[in-house]
Amino acid sequence: MSEWKVICRVDDIPVLGARRVARPVGVDVAVFRNAENQVFALLDRCPHKGGPLSQGIVFGTSVACPLHNWAIGLDDGCAKSPDAGCTPRFAVKVEDERVMLDARELATLALDLAAPRAGPGAATAGKLGDASFDVQAPHGI
Ligand code: FES
Repeated sequence: MSEWKVICRVDDIPVLGARRVARPVGVDVAVFRNAENQVFALLDRCPHKGGPLSQGIVFGTSVACPLHNWAIGLDDGCAKSPDAGCTPRFAVKVEDERVMLDARELATLALDLAAPRAGPGAATAGKLGDASFDVQAPHGI
């Protein structure tokens, strides 16, 4: 069963950009907004070499990774051919311009395991059971 938590408003996310949402455990989530005001959420880690997708540029329903320019689908988290690999995606609900993520899904550490490389300590960062989320601009913006 989902436990929807409001994390920001649609307008808090830059058009063709992203915000980062800290999870209770593991790597942050990147919440993206495209030109049609659709909102998507992916683990903030590229399936190639772990680049921060929240710092990428959104086009259509994809984001270009800032490190090596792979195109990652926002709807499925998967790299566009000829590249291959997927990053976990998170369910998003938008109601009355409010963006919601599922707190239970955010707290699922296993979502990190699909990524190719975990940074040192990445799996233990954050506090278990802490349901407060910290919405931030991507690093360097
Ligand atoms: S780390 Fe994203 S394209 Fe290489």
